[in-house]
Amino acid sequence: LSTDEPAAAWLAGLAREAARPAGQAFAAANIALCKYWGKRDEALNLPVTSSLSVSLGELGTRTVVTVGEHADAIRLNGEDVPPEAGFARRASRFLDLVRPAAGIGYRVDTRNALPTGAGLASSASGFAALALALDHLYGWELDARRLSILARLGSGSASRSIEAGFVEWHAGTRPDGLDSFAEALPEQWPELRIGLLTVSAQQKAVSSREAMQRTRLTSALYPAWPAKAQADLELLRRAIRARDFELLGRTAESNALAMHATSLAAQPPVLYWLPQTIVHMHDVWGLREQGTPVHFTIDAGANLKLLFLARDAGVVAARFPGVRVVAPFA
Ligand code: DP6
Repeated sequence: LSTDEPAAAWLAGLAREAARPAGQAFAAANIALCKYWGKRDEALNLPVTSSLSVSLGELGTRTVVTVGEHADAIRLNGEDVPPEAGFARRASRFLDLVRPAAGIGYRVDTRNALPTGAGLASSASGFAALALALDHLYGWELDARRLSILARLGSGSASRSIEAGFVEWHAGTRPDGLDSFAEALPEQWPELRIGLLTVSAQQKAVSSREAMQRTRLTSALYPAWPAKAQADLELLRRAIRARDFELLGRTAESNALAMHATSLAAQPPVLYWLPQTIVHMHDVWGLREQGTPVHFTIDAGANLKLLFLARDAGVVAARFPGVRVVAPFA
């Protein structure tokens, strides 16, 4: 992608004639170890800082897209979504980017292979799978960078779900966002485990979209966030290169706590944790004091994601009986 390419000119130039009857794709969910928190451009989902995630293997979204009738018809996990629902409106706005003409609708059938209510950002795997399915439908064969940019236009974190493993989303500086895309890191870490610990299956009261915007605009702590994220990103890169699990876990946990701290100071405040969230944090710290290297991260919700190594899976499962364990590189 040349830097002087006019903004999204490639998007306008894409074929609008289906190459096959249906496009289908899978994208894995991802968990940020260094969070995306705050946008410099809300329309294009351009972030204030770069972020870094790890993908969740077979947990993600599978999507089939076909050209349909006059209006979009969206199905989620086998059920029709009313067109006025937030989910359908967001999907339709995204489809507008590639719609050949007004009055042409798409049929989108999307299934989340995610434990329901585990607080996994289904918008990340959802928009990544939709971008990939459209690429398949139209036969564009976009490269990973363009696919990441396209997915980002649906949801910021979706830019990190085009590729698997450790993925870094470069914030970029261009107003048009053509340098804001995610790339896979070359490192693998077969022993790394992620434990999904569900505290509440309830829909969060404040979306991450709303919370990060409110935080950026009103939190007295937000000005400290960009430097913190930049420093953590460098530590995480170093931890991944050196396979230093203690550094990885400590940095991811600190980054999550700092993110939540900025939101606590927003007006009105955003607090995602429930009492059980804090109980589990103390459980994690307790296990660490007893010598088991386990850390947590928390996104815009009450649920925890535990980080640990394969050799400690038994200890973690004994302490957290409901935990669902994912091996991102196995
Ligand atoms: C806390 O990607 O859901 O999970 O770009 O508005 O769709 P939009 O936001 P979204 O935000 C994710 C926030 C987070 C941190 C992260 O995934 O990096």
